[in-house]
Amino acid sequence: MNILGIETSCDETAISLIKTDDARNSVWVLGNTVHSQIDVHAPYGGVYPELAKREHAKNLIPVLAQTLTQARALIPESHPLTQTQNEVIAQIFTYEPELLSAFKALIPTIQKPDVDLISITVGPGLTPALWVGINFARALSIIWDIPLVASNHMEGHILAALIKKTQGEGAGDIDANNTYALLDSDIAYPALALLISGGHTQIVLVEAIGSYKILGQTRDDAVGECFDKIARTLGLPYPGGPKISALAEEARSQDIKSPEPLPRPMISSNDLDFSFSGLKTAVLYLTKKLTEGGGPLTPDQIKGIAREAEDAMTDVIVAKMRKAAEAHNVATIIVGGGVIANTHIRKALESLANECGLALLSPQIDHSTDNALMMALAGHFNRDKALAPGSPLKAYGTLPIGPTSIS
Ligand code: KG4
Ligand code: ZN
Repeated sequence: MNILGIETSCDETAISLIKTDDARNSVWVLGNTVHSQIDVHAPYGGVYPELAKREHAKNLIPVLAQTLTQARALIPESHPLTQTQNEVIAQIFTYEPELLSAFKALIPTIQKPDVDLISITVGPGLTPALWVGINFARALSIIWDIPLVASNHMEGHILAALIKKTQGEGAGDIDANNTYALLDSDIAYPALALLISGGHTQIVLVEAIGSYKILGQTRDDAVGECFDKIARTLGLPYPGGPKISALAEEARSQDIKSPEPLPRPMISSNDLDFSFSGLKTAVLYLTKKLTEGGGPLTPDQIKGIAREAEDAMTDVIVAKMRKAAEAHNVATIIVGGGVIANTHIRKALESLANECGLALLSPQIDHSTDNALMMALAGHFNRDKALAPGSPLKAYGTLPIGPTSIS
């Protein structure tokens, strides 16, 4: 089965084309493009939904063209749109005139690619951003007559950890380097998933792929949000996570410590919930105190605080995962979300898994942050929920992970 994944929930415009084969437990990544909008949002210190929406509208056609080119599926061939098709897509793109003209400039000039299903992120995320992707997916599904599946972004983050690069055989003329094994059938369920991203911090019991129960989550800021807000307090550009992480590593290698310890909020609470706003506020107060005399923080103070803040978040995450693994007697931990790109947190979770004899499944680093390969995988696992081409879909700003029926 060939699945086109489309992801526009936040500030990455991403499209991926995969081939899956259940009988061979394999996935081939035929094309995978991620266009990050970081440079556009960085001057504002965060992601602006309306700006993200405009950028997605601008990027979707070039990103699609790049993915199809990688898959050797961008083949020139004239297919003029019928009057009815023109009317339908003009209506779908009522609020995206720029995307409408880009769509009309490319789609009628290329062959319909070999795609059996389009998987589109419908939530959770920034609704204006989600809507552009949904409209785009619907328009493609109508013109190419391909069924659609509505996919959950957080399920995508779990599934990103369930493929592993193998030496495997290619499929037809597909490069064997792009072969991945599907690990879902090797897992002993229930498994425990940790999802840490810019918008979410959740511990999820994975009873089976498609059946999820949230065991704990943040009561205020998400871990990624905490990284980003602390970075802003320290005068570092958006997105702060990778910058804090790099400075924390420098601090460790140079033995630089924070001027004061920072709190580990809720580390000993009896539940599996998190709270990170107190940590963010503690960094703000410490920064104010250290700069009372008028001068800015010194580079060593910034590095020391970055290290202590990363340690504090890591300690809380590991403590909660240990508690969850013991309470639910699982054998496998699955981790996902943009913050899982963080080396320190990854290593700490690896140590926890080793110590407790658990298997740890984590995504390839470049599949940790938002991408469409994970959404194409969500399409693979939810293909029985496929909808007729052009079916109406809705964007969900919040969308719980669980056995939901989204359409
Ligand atoms: O999953 P993701 O790409 O987007 C959302 O769905 O939110 O996650 C983005 C978040 C941002 O907060 C970013 O700062 C954080 O992931 N992040 C990191 C690292 N790389 C990305 N946080 C800490 N260390 C990193 N290396
Ligand atoms: Zn994400």
